[in-house]
Amino acid sequence: MRAYFADAPDDISLNDIDVDKIPSHVSFIMDGNGRWAQQRGLDRTLGHKAGVDSLRECVTTSVRLGVDVLSAYAFSTENWRRPQHEVNMLMHLFATTLMKELPLFHQEKVRLKFLGDLDALPTETRDVFEFGLSQTKDYDRMTFALAVNYGSRAEIARAARLIAEDVAAGKLRPEDVDVDAVSNRLYTAGLPDPDLLVRTSGELRLSNYLLWQLAYTEFYVTDLFWPDFDRWEYLRAIHAFQGRGRRFGGVENK
Ligand code: IPE
Ligand code: IPE
Ligand code: MG
Repeated sequence: MRAYFADAPDDISLNDIDVDKIPSHVSFIMDGNGRWAQQRGLDRTLGHKAGVDSLRECVTTSVRLGVDVLSAYAFSTENWRRPQHEVNMLMHLFATTLMKELPLFHQEKVRLKFLGDLDALPTETRDVFEFGLSQTKDYDRMTFALAVNYGSRAEIARAARLIAEDVAAGKLRPEDVDVDAVSNRLYTAGLPDPDLLVRTSGELRLSNYLLWQLAYTEFYVTDLFWPDFDRWEYLRAIHAFQGRGRRFGGVENK
């Protein structure tokens, strides 16, 4: 781990981090690929390609730090509004990248998970996703949850529909519908809520991401575009997180 974090910049290093207080679940809104490319006079799609390198570094860094769950927002239910060629390129990129990166998941014993409605994805993408799921299902060093065709409102509406179906079938009583009944029917069922949410490119909004799960999550927003996000910015985010007093509505428990 020391070698991985050697050559630190002046302002942050592994020494600034309490390795016994690493957040259990870190989540990323990977934003700014398009602007990163435009700044360089490149096509937006090249920003997405560059973003893959940041995500790979993020997976490796998470494993090194001992994060239990890493989640990342890759494609929202609203992103279908983008130009067709960009959508097609992203769907193809998801499939090819996953195939290429599977050895990393095997090497690091990372279990893959997807958040979102995969039925609406092109067959190529869905098939590769299902292959990745089956190949990594027994790993337990870290869970990597990728949100694809994910929208929090659709997710909550789906949970409500599943509850209604169970009630109609007599499997659930209305008086037993509680917070856990909803949580257990979200795509994130079984995962802890994020402790830390990082959004790149400076935007101060959730863009329909994990509205339910982020109820008590600490936020860290960086102006860096996603392709510029690296292990050092990750450490800065964790350092900021470790300086926060989380109260969960109660009194601070230091
Ligand atoms: C985030 O980068 C990646 C996806 C939404 C797929 P953007 O493509 O949103 O980049 P900007 O925000 O336009 O710069
Ligand atoms: C959020 O980014 C979705 C992902 C990062 C996948 P967007 O770029 O789609 O969000 P808005 O449109 O700026 O809110
Ligand atoms: Mg964006």
